[in-house]
Amino acid sequence: MIPLEPVTVGTSGLGKRPGADLNLAKAILTSPFRQVDTSNNYADGESERLLGAAIRELGGLPDNRVVFSKGDQDPVTGAFTGDRMRRSFEESTERLGLATLPLYQLHDPYTIEVHEALAPGGAVDVLLKLREQGRIGAIGIAAGRRELVEEYVKTGVFDVVLTHNRYTVVDRSAERILELATQRGMTVFNAAPFGSGILAGDNFRGRTYGYSEPSPEFLAHVDRFRALCAEWGVEPAAAALHFSLREPRIHTTVVGVNSVDRLRELEAHQRAVIDVEFWSALEALGAPPAPPTD
Ligand SMILES: NC(=O)c1ccc[n+]([C@@H]2O[C@H](COP(=O)([O-])OP(=O)(O)OC[C@H]3O[C@@H](n4cnc5c(N)ncnc54)[C@H](OP(=O)(O)O)[C@@H]3O)[C@@H](O)[C@H]2O)c1
Repeated sequence: MIPLEPVTVGTSGLGKRPGADLNLAKAILTSPFRQVDTSNNYADGESERLLGAAIRELGGLPDNRVVFSKGDQDPVTGAFTGDRMRRSFEESTERLGLATLPLYQLHDPYTIEVHEALAPGGAVDVLLKLREQGRIGAIGIAAGRRELVEEYVKTGVFDVVLTHNRYTVVDRSAERILELATQRGMTVFNAAPFGSGILAGDNFRGRTYGYSEPSPEFLAHVDRFRALCAEWGVEPAAAALHFSLREPRIHTTVVGVNSVDRLRELEAHQRAVIDVEFWSALEALGAPPAPPTD
């Protein structure tokens, strides 16, 4: 499908902090990273609005850049009907100032059953029509809950699947998703390689993994991973990123960037060279314990 580069910048945090977010949006759109991931509901629409404002200030989307977005349920009623999907798409394209999008995904469809999403006139039907009309290049399913994502993948309807916080240095629970998607020739986005932060930086105590409280066993495994990084002189964030980058079934890795400094760090993490023996040592730590996510 869409030709992809290994790293996509995630913008779920864009617009959540007061101040310099327009500068951050511009920095993202002029950075070495060509792909940006957003969604209709990130920061109540601010993520798309700021990206749209940055695109306008830059005089249009800079060459070769792509913005991927997602359709969300009605923020007030939770409805995720076909009508809502159409409105979501119109809102996204208007905020971004882009008439077409290379990818639009069904995002966190937790208020409806799979059969409702796929019913004639339902949310997925609208995505298919928009793709037919050429307003969307590809359609995807982007969500957390593993079994639900597997069910959507098995429908064979989507071009893309985005899994998050479930295929990291300390977690392989998206293994089946990767397997099912690969069998169907789908494109795989692996988001949140830092488990939303616990695997990057130094201050990780007290942080969640994939928005959930980790068990002592899970934290002990994070400690073992970090000790291994110290032993090999590897930055934990670089190892966490490269773990995803080196997996052939993953086409792009989506990393959340909340500041210009983190954007620069991401470039350095991508450039990091990690001894191939490090990965054997990581395997030798044994299978990770059950993650706090599903
Ligand atoms: N359902 C979905 O479709 C879905 C769900 C989840 C994610 N996503 C996408 O994937 C993207 C990535 O997810 P994510 O941002 O939750 O997870 P992530 O990429 O695993 O982690 C990003 C977090 O790591 C932290 N971090 C990075 N370097 C650090 C360091 N040196 N020290 C301490 N903390 C550090 C950042 O904290 P700071 O804030 O301090 O910089 C940031 O909050 C999202 O932006 C979104 O685009 C999609």
